[in-house]
Amino acid sequence: MTVVVLLGAPGAGKGTQAKFLETEFGLAHLASGDLLRAAVAAGTPVGREADRYMSRGQLVPDATMIRVFLDRLDQPDARSGAVLDGFPRTGTQAEALDEALTEHGRRVDHAILIEVPVEDLVARAAGRWICSAAGHVYHAIAHPPRVVGVCDVDGSPLVQRADDTADTVRARMAQQLGALEDVVRHYRRRGVLRTVDGLRPIREVTEAVRAQLVFDRGAA
Ligand code: AP5
Repeated sequence: MTVVVLLGAPGAGKGTQAKFLETEFGLAHLASGDLLRAAVAAGTPVGREADRYMSRGQLVPDATMIRVFLDRLDQPDARSGAVLDGFPRTGTQAEALDEALTEHGRRVDHAILIEVPVEDLVARAAGRWICSAAGHVYHAIAHPPRVVGVCDVDGSPLVQRADDTADTVRARMAQQLGALEDVVRHYRRRGVLRTVDGLRPIREVTEAVRAQLVFDRGAA
């Protein structure tokens, strides 16, 4: 089984590329933000706690996030392989993930960092539209749907995220980029970190990610 971690600043393209990995490699797509937004929508205690942090662009506390995400990783659909989108986000989360995987004789096989300069990320979030049924990701300019407001894949309405306002996006950058550096260092030390240039068009980023996974598999 393969575990792939996608790393990158908010808006770097993790969700976009995770959808590709899900389809191409048959990996379960586990997105920490989607888990939290579902909890917020359901009004659960976790959702109420998470909402306080997400609305300010802050990270949800490690203890809550680790419990929620590792529960999801333990579900049957993730046992044959998973792409992790948005987790781990701190050094503590990375350590907790390693421990949980080791207990099951698994490990992070690939950590792929999608690099995009901060100044390009605010525009990405402002133009983002998400499919309300399954989270397919669009962008008003870089990746528009065929019909405005409608998902190409399943026809469901497209919506914008509550935390995609310019102020919250800037807060997310300010609060979260330092922790991302810790996670990058963690996987560099373990020898599984690869980087791709996330400024290139979506298809070219996909090709770079695919090439990395295929190369690593061949080299293993
Ligand atoms: P989360 O939902 O994970 O948000 P994020 O990390 O901020 O990442 P995004 O989903 O905003 O961006 P992405 O990298 O997936 O980019 P996308 O593919 O959509 O988290 C939300 C919040 O939950 C956090 O702020 C935090 O509060 C909390 N949280 C989540 N996980 C947590 C954790 N582990 N610990 C603690 N708290 C946590 O692309 C963005 C846009 O750009 C789209 O419109 C897309 O079409 C476009 N695009 C993508 N690639 C390209 C390209 N190559 N060229 C041009 N446009 C592109």
